[in-house]
Amino acid sequence: MPKEVSIYEVGPRDGLQNETAVLPTARKVEMIRGLLESGIKRIEVTSFVNPRWIPALADHMEVAAAVHKLERADDVVFSALVPNMRGLDSATRAGMKEVAIFMAASQTHNLKNINKSTEKALATYTEVVREALDRGMRVRGYISCVYGCPYEGNIPVEQVIEVSKALSDMGLYELSLGDTVGVGTPRQVEHVLQQLLEAGLTRDKMAVHFHDTRGTALANITVALQMGITTIDSAAGGLGGCPYAPGASGNVASEDVVYMLQGMGCTTGVDLDRLVATSSRLAGHLGHELPSKYLKAHIGHCTRSMRSV
Ligand code: HMG
Ligand code: MG
Repeated sequence: MPKEVSIYEVGPRDGLQNETAVLPTARKVEMIRGLLESGIKRIEVTSFVNPRWIPALADHMEVAAAVHKLERADDVVFSALVPNMRGLDSATRAGMKEVAIFMAASQTHNLKNINKSTEKALATYTEVVREALDRGMRVRGYISCVYGCPYEGNIPVEQVIEVSKALSDMGLYELSLGDTVGVGTPRQVEHVLQQLLEAGLTRDKMAVHFHDTRGTALANITVALQMGITTIDSAAGGLGGCPYAPGASGNVASEDVVYMLQGMGCTTGVDLDRLVATSSRLAGHLGHELPSKYLKAHIGHCTRSMRSV
């Protein structure tokens, strides 16, 4: 097991993009402040996509402007999704120093999610990444539907390798491998990661991004950790899903990941109590329970202790 693990928090973006009630900008910023106070250093704060496609993140300029004013340590990194040159220009104007491009290993998911074929998406991102690097930004990438697609079902590992290599050759500092609809299982994860490593991708440039739709996320993360991958994407409270991936439910919860890692002796720098406080407040603002198991156990424990007083 690695001694230190980096948590890449996607709640404000991957989490909130899926909420039907739009959280006011000030609440989003309050959430991000809470995440910072809990010790999380890498946060995806919004998405510079077409607001008609993702209405919940239409306030991307305002969110970015506000988070840049938050008090934070020097090593904190804010990132945001960009789907094209227009998104990159908006992110640049908003002062982002890091952006993330995203596409799937599946042709149909690309058509539904970014209105482009795989080939067109790769051509677009080649230009976007070159330009972002020229502007001095760091660029992360996502490949989704790595373990299966809501439209095409099984995705051959060769297809995952082909898109992953094309993306990482663009000069990304990290590629996050997404189980967008949460279908992956541990043996499959081991197989796919092994194939990617054999194809030349390196552990230090890989991150894993699991959705917990079928309850396999923590088991899958354990496999990734055992294979030497040390960046885990997760969302506060287990928020999330992709509006263009039917059946996708929450991201693996940051609380659940941090709790498991602490128990395994891996350092994350995250204060679990503060994180729980942030997610609990957020659940109140969103008006519904969040799926994190640790959070539910914590709230249940507090309620039981209060009853026994
Ligand atoms: P399009 O409709 O093909 O774009 O959308 P277009 O180039 O034809 O332009 C149409 C209109 O969109 C124009 O406006 C553009 O200006 C505008 P109009 O002239 O009609 O008024 N437009 C934009 N506006 C704001 N920001 C932009 C932008 N670009 C064009 N950046 C596009 C193409 C990619 C923009 C659209 O499909 C889109 O926004 N898609 C994003 C969908 C999305 O965010 N999905 C969720 C992401 S989650 C995910 O993918 C998985 C991940 O979480 C990992 C995992 O879980 O596995 C990353
Ligand atoms: Mg996701």
